[in-house]
Amino acid sequence: MNTIAVLISGRGSNFKALFDACEDGRIDATIIAVVSDQSEAVGLQFAKDHGVETHVVEKLPEQDRQAYDRTLINTLDSINADWLTLAGFMRILGPELVNRYLGKLINIHPSLLPAYTGLNTHQRVIDAGEPKHGATVHFVTEELDGGPIIKQQSLDVLPSDTAETLAKRVLQIEHKLYPLVMQFLISGHARYENGKCYLDD
Ligand code: GAR
Repeated sequence: MNTIAVLISGRGSNFKALFDACEDGRIDATIIAVVSDQSEAVGLQFAKDHGVETHVVEKLPEQDRQAYDRTLINTLDSINADWLTLAGFMRILGPELVNRYLGKLINIHPSLLPAYTGLNTHQRVIDAGEPKHGATVHFVTEELDGGPIIKQQSLDVLPSDTAETLAKRVLQIEHKLYPLVMQFLISGHARYENGKCYLDD
């Protein structure tokens, strides 16, 4: 059985979606740990309530990014999961960590990458008058939100949309897309090779 560790910073609704999919067999894996950089992350409680091991790795004031990443690596190595899924983990990870887990470190991002990397994607999409928006699951590489795309799903932006309504609909997509992609990876249907994502037909 494959194992997954989920990294969160807040609400953790994507973690819950992954957890439910593991429970009902849509993903052939077990979530063995949740790691958060925020001790107050709401998603930690769901993990505790469902018997999933939790780890809090907060950045100490004296730590630079590299030192923080090393602490995180120690935790992730001790968990030793087959897959590391970033699910609203709002911290930029440096090259040492990213390259250590290349091919097994996955992220979900609320935009149709490569468009709208970074934060506040929903408002920026509305401000730009984009007709389409969506979510992307990709392999994490050194380039922020720039790793090979595994799968994305789009929706129409409605004239009445606000950042809040759009975020809500994108989140519904995310909750279906992330489990689907994790099962693609676990079944070998999608894989990382030589800096690219390969998908079987
Ligand atoms: C999700 O929309 C996720 O795509 C986004 O944060 C939200 C977390 O929600 N991630 C990023 O913006 C990463 N750059 P959740 O905690 O309820 O899963």
